[in-house]
Amino acid sequence: MSPVLEVQDLHVTFAGRVGLGAGLLGRRGAEARAVDGVDLTVGEREVVALAGESGCGKTTLARTIMGLERPRAGRILFEGRPIGRNGLRAYRRNVQMVFQDPAGALNPRQTVYESVAEGLRVHGLHQDEEGRVAQALASAGLRPPERFFLLYPHELSGGQRQRVVIAGALVLEPKMIVADEPVSMLDASVRGEILSLLLRLRDELGLALLIVTHDLGLAWTVADRVAVMYLGKIVEVGPAEEVLTRPLHPYTRALLEVVPERGGDLAGRRVLAGEPPDPTRIPPGCRFHPRCPEVAEGRAAALGQEHRCLGEVPALREIAPGHFAACHLA
Ligand SMILES: Nc1ncnc2c1ncn2[C@@H]1O[C@H](COP(=O)(O)OP(=O)(O)O)[C@@H](O)[C@H]1O
Ligand SMILES: [Mg+2]
Repeated sequence: MSPVLEVQDLHVTFAGRVGLGAGLLGRRGAEARAVDGVDLTVGEREVVALAGESGCGKTTLARTIMGLERPRAGRILFEGRPIGRNGLRAYRRNVQMVFQDPAGALNPRQTVYESVAEGLRVHGLHQDEEGRVAQALASAGLRPPERFFLLYPHELSGGQRQRVVIAGALVLEPKMIVADEPVSMLDASVRGEILSLLLRLRDELGLALLIVTHDLGLAWTVADRVAVMYLGKIVEVGPAEEVLTRPLHPYTRALLEVVPERGGDLAGRRVLAGEPPDPTRIPPGCRFHPRCPEVAEGRAAALGQEHRCLGEVPALREIAPGHFAACHLA
């Protein structure tokens, strides 16, 4: 089975932000390697969660997959073909993005109908517009759909707004949805509903899903596979159950330690001691080594591996079937 989406050795960099004091620190113009050599696949009907602390490059990776950022190097293939200039329009129909903030994603002056129909108009799909909008709203759980046509975003709850955003994606009958933190701005009470909606879309419409989340508890609930990202790189990837019950990478283990009863939330939380990750200064060797408990507590040295942790970039190796980790100690 060929994957729906393949990301190959993708690199995305940003010119340094010139902030207060940046000049004084002499780091003015330092380049941020936000995505620094990522390989990732998403199969047909597969749900993949992309997890990691804030700032590790998840949104940048998602936006680059959507063609909203230009990679510095690497390839993105959709159904085996590299996305490029000529195929971009069809690709944009096939892969839709759902953003974190449903309020920001909707124009407050547009009715629900206009918001959902917008994608159809952009893509020149004028036939049976009303039928398609109604179908998309119903698929997103807004029923009967006609009752929502003329409402404005402020007349909807947060959960309903996210359903409208999802309907706007569905109306183009995509093969894949990339959802960036789709429930993090919603009340805890409606998060489960929106997640079950996304899973139902996989079951009923055969969609592939890439769900970006800083919440490993959420990854546990929804994903077939989990990819853990640290400072621009995937450090561990495998079947969700495997990664979350038998984590191979010390970073994944650290993330899991702060997930209370698997329901935890890493938003803005400092997971580990040491410097917070800074993509303008990626450490040599294993990029996690300055914060790695295995190094700090001497286990890497005891195994005779410490010099590699400090000096050799670990490859993402298959340690158990389908379960990969980039750690010299795995
Ligand atoms: N447009 C941009 N310009 C400069 N730096 C950026 C830009 N977007 C993201 N970054 C930097 O790239 C890194 C990764 O950010 P992001 O992809 O938003 O991470 P995440 O979604 O995991 O929190 C951060 O250090 C962030 O400051
Ligand atoms: Mg983000």
